[in-house]
Amino acid sequence: MEDFADRIRGVLSRAALRHEQASHGPRRTAREDLVAWARAHLSHKRLLVVSNREPYSHERGPQGLYWVRNAGGLTVALDSVAQALGGVWTAHGSGGADRLASDAAGRVACPPDHPTYTLKRVWLSEEDQALYYNGLSNSALWPLCHIAYVRPRFRIEEWERYRDVNRRFAEAVMEEVGDQAAFVFIQDYHLGLVARFLKEWRPDLEVALFWHIPWPNVEVFRIFPWKQELLEGMLANDLVGFHIRHHTQNFLDAVADVLEARVDRERGAVERAGKRTWVRDFPIGVDATEIAAMAEAQVAREAERRLRAELGLVDCRVGLGVDRLDYTKGIPERLDGLERMLEKHPEWIGRFSFIQIGVPSRIGLKEYRDVLLRTRKRVERINERFPRPAPEGAATAGPEAEAARAVRGETPSPAGDSASRHDGSFLPSGDDRPRRPPPGNAPSTLPTVHLIERSLDFRELVPYYRMADLCAVTSLHDGMNLVAKEYIAATPDLDGALVLSPFTGAARELERAFIASPYDRESMADAYHAALSEAPESRRERMAALRETVLRYNIFDWAIEVLDTVQRLTLRTPQGEAADAPKE
Ligand code: F6P
Repeated sequence: MEDFADRIRGVLSRAALRHEQASHGPRRTAREDLVAWARAHLSHKRLLVVSNREPYSHERGPQGLYWVRNAGGLTVALDSVAQALGGVWTAHGSGGADRLASDAAGRVACPPDHPTYTLKRVWLSEEDQALYYNGLSNSALWPLCHIAYVRPRFRIEEWERYRDVNRRFAEAVMEEVGDQAAFVFIQDYHLGLVARFLKEWRPDLEVALFWHIPWPNVEVFRIFPWKQELLEGMLANDLVGFHIRHHTQNFLDAVADVLEARVDRERGAVERAGKRTWVRDFPIGVDATEIAAMAEAQVAREAERRLRAELGLVDCRVGLGVDRLDYTKGIPERLDGLERMLEKHPEWIGRFSFIQIGVPSRIGLKEYRDVLLRTRKRVERINERFPRPAPEGAATAGPEAEAARAVRGETPSPAGDSASRHDGSFLPSGDDRPRRPPPGNAPSTLPTVHLIERSLDFRELVPYYRMADLCAVTSLHDGMNLVAKEYIAATPDLDGALVLSPFTGAARELERAFIASPYDRESMADAYHAALSEAPESRRERMAALRETVLRYNIFDWAIEVLDTVQRLTLRTPQGEAADAPKE
């Protein structure tokens, strides 16, 4: 019932926002525009999205089956596209109860509460995950592409399993395509070889790959032992997309360095053996209208109020970080900057608190366990050095509560997946709730930094965005980083500030953020202080400019641009004619 009421509220709120936009500003590209575009250009083709991570997973709890909307930026953003276009999304079924919720072919209707498309789950064994996911994807390609000073590891058995799992994803796609015309939209570095199989079996399919992480410079890429096969696999696509121009150029450099191919940098195209692949950059956006509506909903307001009360965040400015616990995200560096700010500007002690949501990720890998330990250490040190006086009746939610969770063994599965419990409320469920001390034993101090180590459903995340006076995105390197854009979208009242690393794709667009390098502690400390101290009027003006950027080029603009580019460019170059195509 509450769900239904909330949905109605969401619809009304979206309509109100659209009305406001219509009367006060330019019209934004909306879901309906993508639907209309697809009706005009894709009507006779099936759409298939392919990714490793699934947008929804199923779990089993004491009350039976429940589902989780995975909070990863990519799956949340693409879910809006899939909801608009229908079709089939093929992904790894990683939820604990996914098999129970799916039919014999691995299919389940999504979103589970108002289905508009089909999720087709691919089943992977533990060994597949160890070799393909933890191995080649996250111990070789991830560090190779991010250049975050973690040495990539190359093992032939992992490369072979990567190839094999990619072939199985391609087979799963083919089961859905049958002999129909289709457009297959593949996501990310886990699936670099899928197009090669699809084109072998069905050369007439239109296939695009979007590489959501950075592409390294040629000197770095050169060390990848299977570089030729990877590049050939990627060039089987009709289009390869990146978020920023720099990564597109690096990719073209790699092709020129490794393969016998004609690289046309001006047009962003590679020609090889009569086949042309377009290589272009399209910065991904978010469904800003939807996120703003979620942030304005009554249920989010109430959740924020409860969170503030439980974490003792009354009369206190709040900073927020939301990341997978990944060494590329610069989380210990972010906390070092924060500690330095408290040293340099003690006036913030007791008046500022930071919530770090750290989603356990890929914990089968040592580098990921290390970043978790380094993060916990920083949090403990800051809380010891700079405790916050507790307001009347406050609860504790400090390292004690987090440690208790760790003791209870609440760590994710070895795949590092996003499974979490969800009880339909927006507060941490069950034992994740901050502990209240026994009556008469209220704490005199509270932590300055709250570390929340768990996966969140996207709906649970929104109240945190709402609450934050400041959001810190301090990646050492990042393809885009959608947390930055989600936060801005979730702050329609303009009362917020973004501290952003220049090494994110997002920094190319969000120039009005407080830009600070995570490698430079002093400048991070100064950026936090500046973001917290800015006068209300200029703070609002800055956020308004950031919001305008996020609204102007949102997930629907991105989807239309990518899909339309494929349609337009393949019209120009039918299969096998690329080598003869005239120069523009
Ligand atoms: O940032 C690139 C990306 O592939 C995102 O798409 C996704 O959020 C994340 O990395 C992958 O995380 P995971 O391994 O948990 O799916």
